[in-house]
Amino acid sequence: MIFLGIETSCDETAASVISAQEKEPRASYNILSSIVSSQYVHSQYGGVIPELASRAHIQLIVPITQTALDVAKINYQDLDGIAVTYAPGLVGALLVGLSFTKALSLSLNKPFIGVNHLEGHIFSLLLSYPELNPPFLAMIISGGHTELLLIKGLCDYEQLGSTTDDACGEAFDKVARMLGLPYPGGAFIEKLALTGKRTVKFPVPDIPDYDFSFSGLKTAVLYYLQKEKNPVKENVAYSFQETVSDFLLKKIDRAADHYKINRIGISGGVAINKRIQERFSQYGKEHNLQFYFPNPQMCTDNAAMIAAAGIERYKRFGPSPLSLTAEARVKLI
Ligand code: KG4
Ligand code: ZN
Repeated sequence: MIFLGIETSCDETAASVISAQEKEPRASYNILSSIVSSQYVHSQYGGVIPELASRAHIQLIVPITQTALDVAKINYQDLDGIAVTYAPGLVGALLVGLSFTKALSLSLNKPFIGVNHLEGHIFSLLLSYPELNPPFLAMIISGGHTELLLIKGLCDYEQLGSTTDDACGEAFDKVARMLGLPYPGGAFIEKLALTGKRTVKFPVPDIPDYDFSFSGLKTAVLYYLQKEKNPVKENVAYSFQETVSDFLLKKIDRAADHYKINRIGISGGVAINKRIQERFSQYGKEHNLQFYFPNPQMCTDNAAMIAAAGIERYKRFGPSPLSLTAEARVKLI
């Protein structure tokens, strides 16, 4: 099966062609092309401006899709289906990809499949690790999402917890701004923290079950910076990053223990953070947990993960109705 995937839920315009080969216990995927165009227009505003994102998607969607087909050496007629992110995300941004994909599907008479963006992130793990089979735990930590999921099977998930306020990457971005770093700030915090020490004891958020909260930690950093005359920014960055790691590990440990699962895949932009990877791997060694971190291109938003999810959804549930609409917020299950 050969699928085209389209992703426009936030500030990345992405298209990808992948092929899937049936195997037991699950299909394996081959990425024939994965083109991602990140919109840098937002950095000057310190956050994604929805209207600018939609406009950029409109300009980019056709050339990005054409490039994905050219790189894969595939014609539209070779496709077995077209998958697109329909939710969650910025509605105006989602609508660009969704309308484009519906029009393509109608004109080519090819199946149209709507994919939940979070399901895409699960497939970024399955794409990256052919040996990773359900059941496993997945954590998505990005600028827009913080989710802990139980992957019971392909297209069979249970949402264990999510953030009650800011997303994990959003907290990185807000703390980065307090430290005078550019947007998006996650990678800048990681860099600054390289020479830092854990001199500040920020409280690890205390929130029940498998849910997350970052606003208290963010405020703790703000108060610390307001109180200290000459804060050592490197130490603040390092201490914040360690506290985030402690918090995420606490939730993972709880779920791994309860569900008796020791394989955990981590996806989303924050999963690129080398120190977080190091902390998790170290914790894994001590507690017999195996962590899976896709490469950076697969951690961040891309369309290969949408195409792979689209194939599996199509195999199980057939095409989506053309009446499917974009939605800002929707649960995975
Ligand atoms: O997955 P992503 O590219 O986009 C979505 O939000 O869907 O994630 C972007 C987020 C931003 O908040 C960014 O600051 C954060 O991921 N990020 C990082 C790092 N690189 C990107 N956070 C911590 N450390 C990093 N190295
Ligand atoms: Zn994402």
